[in-house]
Amino acid sequence: MKTEILSDRSETELKRAAQLLAENKLVAFPTETVYGLGANALNGDAVKRIFEAKGRPQDNPLIVHLESAEKAEEFAYTSELYYKLAKAFMPGPITVIIPKKDVLSNAVTAGLDSVGIRVPLYAPARNLIKEAGVPIAAPSANISGKPSPTKAEHVISDMDGRIEAILCGDDCKVGVESTVVKITGKDSLVICRPGGVTEDMLKSVCGSVTIDPAVLSKFDGKPVSPGMKYRHYAPEASVEILVGSEEQVADFLSDKTNFAVICYTGDKKLQENGKVLILGDENDSQEQASRLFACLRECDKDKNIKNIYARMPQKNGVGLAVYNRLIKAAGFKITELI
Ligand code: TXA
Ligand code: MG
Repeated sequence: MKTEILSDRSETELKRAAQLLAENKLVAFPTETVYGLGANALNGDAVKRIFEAKGRPQDNPLIVHLESAEKAEEFAYTSELYYKLAKAFMPGPITVIIPKKDVLSNAVTAGLDSVGIRVPLYAPARNLIKEAGVPIAAPSANISGKPSPTKAEHVISDMDGRIEAILCGDDCKVGVESTVVKITGKDSLVICRPGGVTEDMLKSVCGSVTIDPAVLSKFDGKPVSPGMKYRHYAPEASVEILVGSEEQVADFLSDKTNFAVICYTGDKKLQENGKVLILGDENDSQEQASRLFACLRECDKDKNIKNIYARMPQKNGVGLAVYNRLIKAAGFKITELI
């Protein structure tokens, strides 16, 4: 299949992308979190093609992207807490899971009776949805199991030839997928996936905020979000997280070969080692989040790299999302050097 490469800076090309979505074709598009792979959420056949293009397990539900929080009325049962969250964080990097209405294709929700609603902050994404005139089901636009795409070039590398069009735009500023929360009561929710909207931010509008155990460690039970059980975000080299000071990590690496190390701006000693990828300032979790997936993809470009070592990130604020994506990329392999 010939994939049209379009730019969101051109109004005509954005309209072309919207037209393709309205015609039930697949179009990848940028958001502030990661690039999404979109299809008309009202058309089961279009939605099924998303799973084929990504190689995604059929039991993993998709998020529905809307131009405004109020639009959810047509597709789902909203509540007071939904609107509190919407007022505080939409448009923005959050997905809110609420009971769904029957108009949505069952293919979107993988047979569940709930649906994730998201209103992207990145304006061209909202314009695209509005122009298409239909709700857009979209997972991240990567081949299943690869790191999510945060640059147009990542999407082109994974999806060229598999879908009708790729709408190219800015690099994704947040860099990790949206915070997924499920409303569980009048004033309670559970965080199924951490992201740009943090636990503290959620606590400012909701009385009871809990974190699903699958976020923090290997979890053999049934996670709230089916997606949390898969080994996600995996680059081809094996990933290992190291807990220790810069010195201890440097010692550990001294007899290793064919590796890359993911570290922080201040880790000057580590930067004399093998292949080095700098995630950002040790105390700036947002900077780390925005670079994480590009770093993992960068490691994969060098076929000599067999192991990727990463210093343990901080777990507070957006750092929880960085930690969650790294432990998944590492298949929960953490080595204590202390
Ligand atoms: O930032 C994002 O959320 C990006 C961009 C494109 O918007 N999308 C994204 O979609 O990351 P995806 O499909 O890669 O991740 C959706 C996550 C999965 O873990 C899925 O299991 C969960 O949300 N999810 C979706 N609907 C759900 C539902 N009804 N109940 C529980 N979990 C749900
Ligand atoms: Mg994904």
